[in-house]
Amino acid sequence: MLSLALMTTLNTSTLPPIGYGTWPYKGEECTKAVEEALDMGYTILDTATFYNNFEAIEKAIRSKNREELTIISKVWPTNQSPADLKKDLKDSLQRLNTPYIDIYLLHWPNSSIPIRETLQAMEEARKAGMIREIGVSNFTVNHLKKILELEIPISWNQIEISPQFYDPELLAFCHEHKIGVQAYSPIGRGNLINDPVLTRLASKYGKVPAQIALRWVLQHHALPIPGTRNPQHMAENLAVYDFELTQDEMEEINAQAKNGKRNRVTIEKKLDYLDEFDFTYEECWPNNENKVLSKNEALTEAANHYIEILNEIGKPKNNYQSEAILPLCTDKCRKVRNGKLLFEGKEFFAAQLDSGKQWLGTWSIHVEELLISENDQAVTIRYKLSTEKEGNLMIIVILYFDSNYLINEINEVHNKLE
Ligand SMILES: NC(=O)c1ccc[n+]([C@@H]2O[C@H](COP(=O)([O-])OP(=O)(O)OC[C@H]3O[C@@H](n4cnc5c(N)ncnc54)[C@H](OP(=O)(O)O)[C@@H]3O)[C@@H](O)[C@H]2O)c1
Repeated sequence: MLSLALMTTLNTSTLPPIGYGTWPYKGEECTKAVEEALDMGYTILDTATFYNNFEAIEKAIRSKNREELTIISKVWPTNQSPADLKKDLKDSLQRLNTPYIDIYLLHWPNSSIPIRETLQAMEEARKAGMIREIGVSNFTVNHLKKILELEIPISWNQIEISPQFYDPELLAFCHEHKIGVQAYSPIGRGNLINDPVLTRLASKYGKVPAQIALRWVLQHHALPIPGTRNPQHMAENLAVYDFELTQDEMEEINAQAKNGKRNRVTIEKKLDYLDEFDFTYEECWPNNENKVLSKNEALTEAANHYIEILNEIGKPKNNYQSEAILPLCTDKCRKVRNGKLLFEGKEFFAAQLDSGKQWLGTWSIHVEELLISENDQAVTIRYKLSTEKEGNLMIIVILYFDSNYLINEINEVHNKLE
């Protein structure tokens, strides 16, 4: 089956579905609106930590089949360091009472936090099953160009698109790079209901102006997420698949949208982060992003990453599953403990960690020493493993890496500390 992101991007006769935007609804009002939207047939819900409505949405989806819903959520720009992002994701999952978020987006770019680290953290969470697809929001062509260099594929960019404002260059760039586009504020935040062009076309097609706006977005192969509390409007917003705008009509709306002004929410609402819409390519994550690491730095980073994931896997519930270790290993990765081969082939690693959990219970890791051997492309780590069932173990492990800094061999010695 075609992924939702790809489906919105491809220029085929299949149009994207319509999602439901939950901002700025909170509390009872939000629960009621989401319940009504779901009853009406919406299955895609857009939210964000910033909207502060997870509990209200959780109430509305509690009795629904989770697999039939697509939940989009977003992490605020000030929380995009790997540690903050993981915390945001964990809190979001808890508050929404769900094991995964379908589409997790960076709400706005934050050029002061290295994007490589942010995306790596998202990718790990995706591989661990906490997210199904990763993406961004309010990213410009310059931001996207930078992140495409990192080779961590993203599925989505959620951006402002309506007959009031759109950026054709950004839309084309996303399509060209197979990045699905979600259109926020597709009805111009409600300002378009008296727009003369939309009103004229609405009477031609027997529709309302909001439906013309949504149809125009769909014909651009973007997935609209209109917001409304009004059940009649909810129904109207779904009824946009029974007519088609002509090329001339599309172009007429394109012309006015291209000349429109984007919503500068950061500036207007005096929010606590920078509006990066005008950033040049160089200004997006200046200096720190695509810097080539020395061998020593790369080995240190790869070894620390291994320990960090292992530590997460050992924590009590709601943390990483054992599969999260797999992206760090080569296919043929083998593990030797006290001279005995435990497995050969990374596919056995997750099961081995699971059986370790049965034996040890939860655990935490305290690194005491880390030695780099550039010649052997290896790192030796001495760490204390504090376990729930077996007390403290002292472990010395040599990690052998391949030229891409993936682990080829884990050779460890275990000693039980009394
Ligand atoms: N990523 C981001 O940075 C970002 C930014 C902004 C928004 N968003 C997302 O995008 C969603 C939608 O954006 P938005 O709320 O800014 O703008 P919007 O969907 O363009 O407009 C919402 C307004 O349009 C009215 N409306 C909806 N359907 C209508 C219809 N059929 N006829 C007449 N009026 C209609 C609603 O009023 P009634 O309640 O009266 O129907 C509401 O006032 C948000 O809920 C949020 O999830 C994301």
